[in-house]
Amino acid sequence: MLSDQGLVLVTGATGSVGRHVVSQLLREGARVRALTRDPKPAGLPPEVDVVRGDLAAPDTLDAVVQGVGAAFLLWRLPDADTAPAVIDRLTKYARRIVFLSSSAIRDDVEKQTGVVARVHADVEHAIENAGREWTFLRPDGFATNALWWWGAQIRRGDVVRWPYGAAAMAPIHEKDIAAVAVRALREEGHQGRKYLLSGPESLTLAEQVKIIGAAIGRPLRFEEISPDAARDQLLAVMPQEIVDVLLGVLARLTAGPAPTTTVVSEITGAPARTFREWARDHAAEFLPQA
Ligand SMILES: NC(=O)c1ccc[n+]([C@@H]2O[C@H](COP(=O)([O-])OP(=O)(O)OC[C@H]3O[C@@H](n4cnc5c(N)ncnc54)[C@H](OP(=O)(O)O)[C@@H]3O)[C@@H](O)[C@H]2O)c1
Repeated sequence: MLSDQGLVLVTGATGSVGRHVVSQLLREGARVRALTRDPKPAGLPPEVDVVRGDLAAPDTLDAVVQGVGAAFLLWRLPDADTAPAVIDRLTKYARRIVFLSSSAIRDDVEKQTGVVARVHADVEHAIENAGREWTFLRPDGFATNALWWWGAQIRRGDVVRWPYGAAAMAPIHEKDIAAVAVRALREEGHQGRKYLLSGPESLTLAEQVKIIGAAIGRPLRFEEISPDAARDQLLAVMPQEIVDVLLGVLARLTAGPAPTTTVVSEITGAPARTFREWARDHAAEFLPQA
């Protein structure tokens, strides 16, 4: 059953998931306001009300939240310090928040381990405390991680040097996360739900690289390197805390096939998109000129 939430605020609107939340909402005739720290290069459709604001500076949101009926919230900050003040402002107007959280959270422990689980759990608590309608989307690894992890190497050549080739995950297409978000923003029946989202099939990292090779028409070779060698490589491009989380997660994922959920198809009514489909959608970004 559809419910009209009026104006929908989309945070992270210039990012991989948020862009699809915006376009899918527009396709359904919803009115959309998009938050960005820099409206100038936002590249969003003209019918979107693009506004400047920063989740790290809650004061910047006072005008942004006015008249908003529902919000898609994405939290890209290294801590949740400003979350209570942000949620407080949002819920002055928004009756409903759909939060892009993380599958790293464990509901059976009091204290989360790891920065990713901790930050997302703190934001979830701030939302629960606000007493409005909420839905938490807890996706497993994004398919777009492949671009982040291997994009530069694949644009340069045919070999991907990376650790834990046997690590398995069920990568989820960003369009599917967005599709679930839009259903939760627009329909009744998703309030108070925590949705564990995954792609349709478990694939090892080495298999994912092979699939990307097929999509770009150039066979790729996965060359396994040691976790220590990978640590040095990664520290050049990301903070130590994130490197630790990433390597820890990949090591754990070597235990066997990744579990998959059917939540995407149950909620959207369409099969979850495969990694092959994702690789075809993004093939151009793996080519040298990208
Ligand atoms: N990668 C995974 O495997 C995975 C798994 C589970 C959950 N997640 C969660 O998914 C989220 C990332 O989603 P994504 O890939 O769509 O993002 P993304 O492509 O990395 O884009 C980040 C977005 O966040 C916005 N942003 C960053 N800092 C901001 C701030 N201080 N104030 C307002 N907006 C800010 C950016 O907007 P502007 O630059 O325009 O301001 C941009 O739109 C993260 O919260 C992550 O924890 C990721």
